[in-house]
Amino acid sequence: MKPESIQKYRPFPAVDLPDRQWPNRTISEAPIWCSVDLRDGNQSLPIPMSVEEKLEMFDLLVRIGFKQIEVGFPSAAETEFNFLRALVDQNRIPKDVTIQVLVQTRDHLIRRTFESLEGVKNAVVHIYNSTSPLQRRITFSDSSKETIKQIAIDGATLVKEMVPTLPESNITLQYSPESFSDTELDYALEVCEAVSEVWGPTPENKIILNLPATVEWFTPNIHADQIEWFCNNIKNRESTIISLHTHNDRGTGTAATELSLLAGADRVEGTLFGNGERTGNLDIVTVALNMNSQGIGTGLDFSDLSTVRNVYEKTMRMIVPDRQPYAGELVFTAFSGSHQDAIKKGLDRRKKELKAAGESEIVKWGVPYLTIDPRDIGRSYEAIIRINSQSGKGGVAYILESEHGFDLPKTMHPQAGEKIYSVADELGREVSNEEIRELFLENFVNISNHLELLDYELRHNVGGPGEVRCEAKISVDGAEKTIEGGGNGPINAFVHALQNAELKHFAVTDYRSHAITGGSDAGAAAYVQIKSNDDDIDAIWGCGVDPSIEMAGLKALVSAWNILHQG
Ligand code: KIV
Ligand code: ZN
Repeated sequence: MKPESIQKYRPFPAVDLPDRQWPNRTISEAPIWCSVDLRDGNQSLPIPMSVEEKLEMFDLLVRIGFKQIEVGFPSAAETEFNFLRALVDQNRIPKDVTIQVLVQTRDHLIRRTFESLEGVKNAVVHIYNSTSPLQRRITFSDSSKETIKQIAIDGATLVKEMVPTLPESNITLQYSPESFSDTELDYALEVCEAVSEVWGPTPENKIILNLPATVEWFTPNIHADQIEWFCNNIKNRESTIISLHTHNDRGTGTAATELSLLAGADRVEGTLFGNGERTGNLDIVTVALNMNSQGIGTGLDFSDLSTVRNVYEKTMRMIVPDRQPYAGELVFTAFSGSHQDAIKKGLDRRKKELKAAGESEIVKWGVPYLTIDPRDIGRSYEAIIRINSQSGKGGVAYILESEHGFDLPKTMHPQAGEKIYSVADELGREVSNEEIRELFLENFVNISNHLELLDYELRHNVGGPGEVRCEAKISVDGAEKTIEGGGNGPINAFVHALQNAELKHFAVTDYRSHAITGGSDAGAAAYVQIKSNDDDIDAIWGCGVDPSIEMAGLKALVSAWNILHQG
């Protein structure tokens, strides 16, 4: 903003709470959760959900484990009324799930709401009116505090009168002083206490006082102070459920909720992925998984997060951003080399620790850069390491091992990595796992552009125990010849055969082989490192793949030879 624009704003006043306790506490248990996806979420959509879509979303919310679900404003729109009736008529509301309906504190709307609830076993009737000075002055044309309080009292009184019309239903009253966040605290308390007095809650039949940060005007610590102040001062605290309903205008809805739980709140309203008015409501997925990541159970099951996301994207026509905590496409992905190395080390260490521990022993999570195990929310490691030109040596090796079954020797990682990063750099984009395999095969495996091994025969224990003789048919730049040599193993014998044919200007410096278990290249892989006699040339690796491990070794040597002679 320009300085002259900034001047028109003012800081929000702090709450006078010198003895605040919330900073010293930790979250140790989950709150009561209430989903407002079908109301605050739906209300904010360019194309609201149809009844069918709402039914699909409702079923998903039930499967996740929500026990309180706000289903909309049945008094305000025919679709919302019909949706609630469909839930009742189709017997879709589980016995342990409470339906919440929102209604303004207006006579005919409250009556219509009660009609919509016919046959619902457990319901929260949620009434609200706005209480902040800004709303009193602007929206309610300079209404007095008394007038606004009376609206709330009248609403609560009518709800209480209507309860006997539904003798089969358990009705709970929820009251929201909408715009609580910028309402004078003592006035918000006064209005809430007036409503509570009408309702007459008991510890067995509590009232819910929902304290919305309708607009997030300030930092999360101020919201926490407000909640702690309110919890300390409300009469009849033992008969009151204090509920949070944060929005995300400043991008801190999650922090505001978490700090306010420390401040004493009992209940949280929010939506999947933070859908809701303007910048959204609290993202319940994030808060719940944050709790799980601290070892706290929540009663909500996000172990199949991609299904949750798919239903959400389909029914809401919203997109979960790539960086959305837990659910975003890229949140378990590392492109940078140092991060990839650390993750790979962490996963390798974990594999060892799990192996060492018994079946029933729990090994605590601890992998750099990953706050949780992606598999716990139905995501695989597949996407963790992705390769672009900024990736490091371990990344390519990780993909080749985890996706394609090639377990490269450590000293080969830089050589394989460099080749693939330079292609990524040229392309100016990420290279896919399949492209990595293709590039690896093309550049390192069974290379035979100058020297080719056409056939070979090995004879063992010739000339002494362990002694191997190798007779090989080769082609050098198209010219075929037969070469012969001996040694203490097939590779050594082949190297001597090359030497006898004056084709050896190198020393073999390293070797390894393994069976390929995963991936699409069945058989064995072998890796041979050779060092040229020319001191200026670094040691290089070649790889061979063949159903026979012996042949794979010879092919690896031939690959290395060809790479060395590529110039
Ligand atoms: O944000 C808000 O204040 C609301 C109320 C209706 C609870 O959604
Ligand atoms: Zn809201």
